[in-house]
Amino acid sequence: MRRVLFVCTGNICRSPLAEALLRDRVERRGITTIETDSAGTHADHMGEPSDQRMRSTALGHGVTIEHNARRVTSSDFARFDLIVGMDDGHMRRLEQMRDGRPVELRKMLEYHPTYAGDGHAPDVPDPWYGGMRGFEEVYEMIDGAIDGLIEELIES
Ligand code: 4NP
Repeated sequence: MRRVLFVCTGNICRSPLAEALLRDRVERRGITTIETDSAGTHADHMGEPSDQRMRSTALGHGVTIEHNARRVTSSDFARFDLIVGMDDGHMRRLEQMRDGRPVELRKMLEYHPTYAGDGHAPDVPDPWYGGMRGFEEVYEMIDGAIDGLIEELIES
């Protein structure tokens, strides 16, 4: 079993979408060896359902987000073998929290074919303060990276 945790800031936009997209694609392909969850680096929205704008954007693409926000914890570094952050701030925080444990830490767009292997994957930007277009852009970015992530998981 491969266990993947997606991490963003509030755990109400980017990482719940990534979790829902991975679950959707894995189920469609009949893959039973990948489990996923998401969490945030900040506590501001703990317990809340995902942002309505993110949920309606995903639903427009046929993807249902069902997640209540939680904060990333120390025990996540033992439970998951891959933790995927959305921006450089998340990656720094995850590096601090890992405390030497062997979990793999990767940035979301490293799995996007446009950026794969060049070592400079851009951030998935925080859509929280912008308009609906930002949510659609977040969807396109994460959607474009999910298949690359799945291929890597089933190969390794
Ligand atoms: P997320 O977006 O990290 O993709 O869930 C955000 C949601 C809320 C906040 C920041 C980012 N906030 O500052 O409340």
